[in-house]
Amino acid sequence: MYAPSELEKLVTVQTLRKMKANGEKFITVALYDAPMAAMAQKTGVETVLVGDSLGMTVLGYDSTVPVTMEQMIYHVEAVARGNKKSLIMGDMPFMTYATPEQALTNATRIMQAGAHMVKIEGGAWLADTVKMLTDRGIPVCAHLGLTPQSVHKLGGYRVQGRDEKHAEQMLEDAILLDQAGADLLVLECVPSALAKRITESVSMPTIGIGAGRDTDAQVLVINDILGLTEQPPKFSKNFLVEAGDIPGALRKYAGDVKLGVFPEDSHTFN
Ligand code: KIV
Repeated sequence: MYAPSELEKLVTVQTLRKMKANGEKFITVALYDAPMAAMAQKTGVETVLVGDSLGMTVLGYDSTVPVTMEQMIYHVEAVARGNKKSLIMGDMPFMTYATPEQALTNATRIMQAGAHMVKIEGGAWLADTVKMLTDRGIPVCAHLGLTPQSVHKLGGYRVQGRDEKHAEQMLEDAILLDQAGADLLVLECVPSALAKRITESVSMPTIGIGAGRDTDAQVLVINDILGLTEQPPKFSKNFLVEAGDIPGALRKYAGDVKLGVFPEDSHTFN
């Protein structure tokens, strides 16, 4: 039985590295407003992601592509007001980090809005950007696998890295980003065995979504946890059904991740 409790002190990059070293899973929730952020702190959620998924879950767009810096800053500020203990990651929107210089300017704004880390989507081409940001004191979460900002290039929201060539490429990208100084890595819609291999090959903690049980952490979008998504993705779970209320749903998700009960086989890809 796991009983999540309120975070006692600010979670840092070092906290998460220690947890990886100790084999202790941590919890991430993508959320967008102050009350949910406060509830995450009470539930012991170590990291919250102000994801650009807000374009689809809150703002009604068809993809994350239209999301702007102003929208991200508005929501990062709200989350930072509601939560003083979790490590807050802020997504950098589409085309706001196409060059290292542009990334530095825009990441500065996300950090000044209250984030403790920025998240960017992409592989080896981002190694110089990761180095530029982390050398200057801005922690970075990389994001590989299904990278939703590239949906039009990928041709849909599909599992990535299923064939040998793409799997090897993803592993190489992860190692390069790790060496460039990335602090965390999101793996989205990746076969479980590949996610395990990547997690074992990098020093930074990995956070999985549709990436099996063997990543160092799990992330789900709050709308999926609460059953608000009309066509929920295979990797998600509505925890509100069992729990009965919103705090209970968050506690159940957190507990199931800590105990390794979530994700189940039905939420994973081969
Ligand atoms: O934008 C987001 O919420 C994300 C997570 C799904 C990882 O990138």
